[in-house]
Amino acid sequence: MLETPYVTNYLTEHFGEEDYPTIEGYERVGGYRAARKALTEMSPDEVIELVKIAGLQGRGGAGFSTGMKWSFMPKDTDRPKYLVCNADESEPGSFKDRILLERGSHQMLEGILIAAWATGASTTFIYIRGEYAYPADQMERAIGEAYAKGYLGENVMGTGFRHDVRVTRGAGAYICGEETGLLESLEGKKGQPRKKPPFPAQYGAFGMPTTVNNVETFSHVPHIVEKGANWFRSFGTEKSPGTTVFGVSGHVVRPGLYELPLGTMLSEIVFEHAGGVPGGRKVKGVIPGGMSMSILPAGQLDVPMANEFLHERKTMLGTGGIIVMDETTCMVRVASVISYFFRDESCGQCTQCREGTGWINKIVDRIERGAGEEEDLEVLLDVAGKMEGQTICAFADAAAWPIQGLLRHFSDDFAEHVRQRKCPFAESFEL
Ligand SMILES: Cc1cc2nc3c(=O)[nH]c(=O)nc-3n(C[C@H](O)[C@H](O)[C@H](O)COP(=O)(O)O)c2cc1C
Ligand code: SF4
Repeated sequence: MLETPYVTNYLTEHFGEEDYPTIEGYERVGGYRAARKALTEMSPDEVIELVKIAGLQGRGGAGFSTGMKWSFMPKDTDRPKYLVCNADESEPGSFKDRILLERGSHQMLEGILIAAWATGASTTFIYIRGEYAYPADQMERAIGEAYAKGYLGENVMGTGFRHDVRVTRGAGAYICGEETGLLESLEGKKGQPRKKPPFPAQYGAFGMPTTVNNVETFSHVPHIVEKGANWFRSFGTEKSPGTTVFGVSGHVVRPGLYELPLGTMLSEIVFEHAGGVPGGRKVKGVIPGGMSMSILPAGQLDVPMANEFLHERKTMLGTGGIIVMDETTCMVRVASVISYFFRDESCGQCTQCREGTGWINKIVDRIERGAGEEEDLEVLLDVAGKMEGQTICAFADAAAWPIQGLLRHFSDDFAEHVRQRKCPFAESFEL
């Protein structure tokens, strides 16, 4: 069992209670009341409107309005409609969905049930990364309990509404977290993202209208239905309401999960909640939202963790996976780790991505070995710039942004490697 997160709020409030993952434990604290309310007292359109007014934004990385996304599902159609719960969580630095699946399986299932009612979906596919064997087992157990209680199946809570939920396990590819790569994988094919349009709401899983949402996104929904939009908006900022579960890792005293309102200062999370850097060392840089987001240097941590503020610093909230690096860190080695990952994980369909990720990794490694030239820095920026906005999916952008961020804030690290013809950071982590 995972330890309780260090800071809890409404999503993680009961995660430390032994019986909370069971249906009895969940019902003991009011579980499935919101689903009953939605299915018996609210029309699907009313649920969608409520989620829109609450301002819930997807927690999978892109931050798109959840209510808006649900409203894109066609209404007058005889075709079956599907939901997909994206539990692939393969973004390095992100580990919040894991605990939400393990400890909050019924909370997420209840959110799925409400979303199914709102969108008219007949089946939900929960796509879980293959490495998450225990979370997947927990979900299957919870689904079994929900069927046994009549909360899933052909007559949900006696309302006549039918909904089924299935778990599918992935096989360890980062690109299967991208929603259309996921849909291909779900259908048993190679996980290669699809060209859009058509968007999943028109042509999704098995060609049917589909909505894809993240684990955490679904988990917020029962709370919104039960306590209302104004209550939800009492957390976070005006443009980014609610809490989120920040995962903090790297050079900190207390790595872990912290459920805090969106808009909490990054400095507060790193220094107060996570206890700052151990051993009296200083912070050098912090990645605020998972490895595909741009890094912020130590001088820029006084920023609220919400997209409207992070955009001003040319970065994003992403998945809220915060990676802290201390002053011993060689940022060229960081670029090497990141570029190796993206080179390895590119699905290879688009030239800019397939060639660009390989090229960046090759040049960064050359610089790290002390064999780089001054022009290499310009070539890196040029290649990264040409990968943005040119490809089938946003993977290529996600591969370019961290490299651009490292060059923007730590160009001295790169220049010193070229000047000294070796890595000047003797105490940095090993490659
Ligand atoms: C390369 C790439 C990887 C992604 N990986 C994930 C992931 O592991 N989990 C996730 O929820 N969303 C991931 N996304 C975002 C999904 O495509 C999609 O936007 C999200 O699941 C929608 O859910 P939301 O609206 O609830 O955030 C990824 C996107 C890209 C481009
Ligand atoms: S951008 Fe990269 S990962 Fe996305 S479809 Fe193109 S090659 Fe594949």
